[in-house]
Amino acid sequence: MPRIPIAANTASTVTINGRDLVAFGGCNYLGLGHHPDVKASVVRAMDYLGLTTSASRETSGNTLEHELLEAELAQFLGMEASILMPEGYTANLALAQALAAPEAWPAGGGDPPVAVIDEKSHRSIRNAVEASGFEVADFEHLSAADAMRVIRRHTDRRVCVWTDGVFAADGAIAPLPGLLAAMPRNNALLVVDDCHGFCVLGTRGRGTCEHFGISDPRILWTSTLAKGLGCYGGAVASSRRLIGVVRDHAGIYKGTTPVPPILAHAAREALRVIDREADLVSRLEANVRRIRRSLAAMGLPVEDSPSPVMTFVLDSAERMRSFYDRLIAQDVFIPLIDYPNGPAPLYFRLSVCAMHSPGQIDHLLRSLETALADTASLACQARAAG
Ligand SMILES: Cc1ncc(COP(=O)(O)O)c(C=O)c1O
Repeated sequence: MPRIPIAANTASTVTINGRDLVAFGGCNYLGLGHHPDVKASVVRAMDYLGLTTSASRETSGNTLEHELLEAELAQFLGMEASILMPEGYTANLALAQALAAPEAWPAGGGDPPVAVIDEKSHRSIRNAVEASGFEVADFEHLSAADAMRVIRRHTDRRVCVWTDGVFAADGAIAPLPGLLAAMPRNNALLVVDDCHGFCVLGTRGRGTCEHFGISDPRILWTSTLAKGLGCYGGAVASSRRLIGVVRDHAGIYKGTTPVPPILAHAAREALRVIDREADLVSRLEANVRRIRRSLAAMGLPVEDSPSPVMTFVLDSAERMRSFYDRLIAQDVFIPLIDYPNGPAPLYFRLSVCAMHSPGQIDHLLRSLETALADTASLACQARAAG
């Protein structure tokens, strides 16, 4: 599908070609990118900080805002320390560069380290481990049993299991307890890229680990700050010792300009909003529950899950294009995408935000029902052809 130029947006609407549509796409899951306190914090910080540091942090581009955000983010997550990166993509690369260094593994082990990754991991994970010299072995999507089979082939090696917490392209939640159980106690680490779980899952929005109620020293965390938190940037969180290794060994950290300090300031405010307005996470959860149940009742193939990402396909590409057009005609935008690792080459990725009002959700559900009925004849044609 072609890219669509959005002229303006709110947490739950987009303006396209002069028309306002209710939007069920994107990853601003709590609406924090449009929260008045978060927006005001950017303006406030603009008074005493410029747009960019114009230098890397280890030269002259380190600000108090960066250091405070690192401390507050670690505290928010219940981890010892964190380090900021320019984006979520570079957070994975920075961590892989650090884990490729022997200093990251006090117990030693054969070279090169092995990255055992979910076959549908985000491309930033695969790129990161390949570019950092890991031997890479895939396991079956969401299968802890298959991860164990792969790990057992490498018992004498340093092993790093790597997965998305919530998968962007199908909304599935990684089986973190099973993955931990599949790993040996020594010389094995579990990296969770929680770009789509952070601020979303768990009763306090801490993410996929909170969802499962797990905390384990073998878990390392990476994320973007641009999705649930509504800001920009990325981060790695883990033990103080490993964060020191990232700082010392990740070339991508040393050689890049950090997240703009005004956005680091905004991210600090966004973290505070999540704790101040605890109902944001529960509103998201309630919206997700309502939409998932209604979609399933309409016969769309979605499961019961707290994940705000729902993907579905219809009988044929022709029906999906027609369905998409009929939604747009009713002022509803659900992206029809061909992003990798989804359930099919072309699919709908519907995502939910805490700021969707009950009226907007009513409108979505009515529009979906109408579009399903209006395109039913295309389903019959697809079945006859198939
Ligand atoms: C799972 C996952 N990891 C990493 C990234 C990259 O984050 P960023 O956009 O901050 O680079 C994304 C999406 O953008 C993602 O979905």
